[in-house]
Amino acid sequence: MCQIIAPSILSANFGNLQSEVEMLNQSQADWIHIDVMDGVFVPNISFGFPVLKFISETTTKPLDVHLMIVNPEKYFEIFRKYGATSLTIHYEASTHLHRSIHAIRDLGMKAGVALNPHSNISLLDDIISDLDIVLIMSVNPGYGGQKFIENTYSKIHRLKDMIIQKSSKALIEIDGGVSLENAPRLAEAGTDVLVAGNTIFASENPASTIRLLKSLKPVK
Ligand code: DX5
Ligand code: ZN
Repeated sequence: MCQIIAPSILSANFGNLQSEVEMLNQSQADWIHIDVMDGVFVPNISFGFPVLKFISETTTKPLDVHLMIVNPEKYFEIFRKYGATSLTIHYEASTHLHRSIHAIRDLGMKAGVALNPHSNISLLDDIISDLDIVLIMSVNPGYGGQKFIENTYSKIHRLKDMIIQKSSKALIEIDGGVSLENAPRLAEAGTDVLVAGNTIFASENPASTIRLLKSLKPVK
């Protein structure tokens, strides 16, 4: 289906991160999705700059950084320095979203906004034309391997309508509980970027699971 596939490194084996990244380099993955969690915005802490720096020095793929942290604007420059290609911040963690989005773009990164499952698509109505990415959380942020929330399909349809109506170029990214079973329907609904952690890294052959995700045909 030729969407952008972004394996989430959170589900990789950190005891052998180099070979995990090398596997992704050889695979059909388009981006590497990097989840940064602070234990405040979400109830979990993942990893920070040294890990990001290592991945950026080891990979040839763009780094799609998803910040699940409060006060994200404090760190834009340093994320750029350590290799982020795109930076996605949460609507729920941003008081001055317009300013933050433009600060990210001015640093030469793609700018994204993530919405938690309870946040309505209409919240983006006045910012959608400024965005490169909208990330819809299809689980509550904080952990890999959770169950996909079905209301996500309806959110994708509403977001797609808004994007068309406002002539926005924003990509629709779906994050959480993506599987080989729901990916075709997500594609049909209008998803541009599929993030997948557990589905890829818990499979017997992650590179072939990426190939499968890449080749699935959209279905209703
Ligand atoms: C959750 C993260 C996701 C997570 C997805 O807070 O934002 O990117 O790694 O993992 P899976 O695909 O296992 O649900
Ligand atoms: Zn994520």
